[in-house]
Amino acid sequence: MTTWVDKETCIACGACGATAPDVFDYDDEGLAFNTIDDNTNTAEIPEILHDDVRDAADGCPTDSIKIDD
Ligand code: F3S
Repeated sequence: MTTWVDKETCIACGACGATAPDVFDYDDEGLAFNTIDDNTNTAEIPEILHDDVRDAADGCPTDSIKIDD
């Protein structure tokens, strides 16, 4: 699994960092990004974090969290 946040549609709601704090954090504008690979969608997410990432994606109100399996 790899993941990234589409900052064009993120509304800085702050849910994903609470759901998956080991993967998502926020930039200076409050927009979320994947901290593991700096939102480049290149790093494999550790298996132990997959459920958190899926929960974050499910909970994002704008479907901004993209997952590639
Ligand atoms: Fe943005 Fe969705 Fe997270 S709106 S802050 S990517 S939950």
